[in-house]
Amino acid sequence: MSSRIRICTKEDSRVLAETIRKSFRDIAERFGLTQENAPRHPSNCTMDWIRKDMERGVTYFAIENKNHIIGCVAFERANSEVCYLERLAVLPGYRRRGFGKALVERAVSEAKHLGVNYVSIGIIAEHTELKDWYKRLGFVEGESKEFPLLPFCVTVMSYEIGKSCQQCAPPDVVERVSDLCR
Ligand SMILES: CC(C)(COP(=O)(O)OP(=O)(O)OC[C@H]1O[C@@H](n2cnc3c(N)ncnc32)[C@H](O)[C@@H]1OP(=O)(O)O)[C@@H](O)C(=O)NCCC(=O)NCCS
Repeated sequence: MSSRIRICTKEDSRVLAETIRKSFRDIAERFGLTQENAPRHPSNCTMDWIRKDMERGVTYFAIENKNHIIGCVAFERANSEVCYLERLAVLPGYRRRGFGKALVERAVSEAKHLGVNYVSIGIIAEHTELKDWYKRLGFVEGESKEFPLLPFCVTVMSYEIGKSCQQCAPPDVVERVSDLCR
């Protein structure tokens, strides 16, 4: 598989925003999310969001297939205990081939490197297939909450670092071999 994961720069902002918008479109349609009722949903992502994220220290990882970005994930250190995984996206035409899993594993590997204890992600509470997928990757379901300006309930899923090594990515999709099994 000619794919690799790399850290993005501001030059990638336009392609990242497009990738995120296109990847979240089906979710927006399924849950009835629009610019009006959910302006901060990733289906409305702009270059400006990505740039501002990067300025405040968020790292974007992109997965490339034949040198084209086909998916990404944002990774943010919230505090000494927790990192957040956000905007996980794989373009519809490239799904169910392990790219999403590889991105999650890359973020978990980074969290291990930083020495935090948890990686957390907020998902739409009713998105049961996604919830089950995160569980298969080793995440545990936490509390569900409502937030102002969001027309859906959010469930927090968390991965505890150091529990096992089974989430390690295959060598052809990680950025460096040293990222394995950290
Ligand atoms: C979630 C996502 C990143 C997975 O990417 P991917 O490259 O297909 O992931 P993988 O190939 O590693 O795993 C595929 C799994 O996704 C799961 N999945 C998650 N959401 C799904 C959905 N809406 N429909 C079907 N399968 C879904 C399936 O269970 C599938 O597992 P299976 O093939 O073993 O049945 C991709 O579906 C996506 O971009 N979705 C839209 C945006 C989104 O919901 N992002 C997550 C926000 S927290």
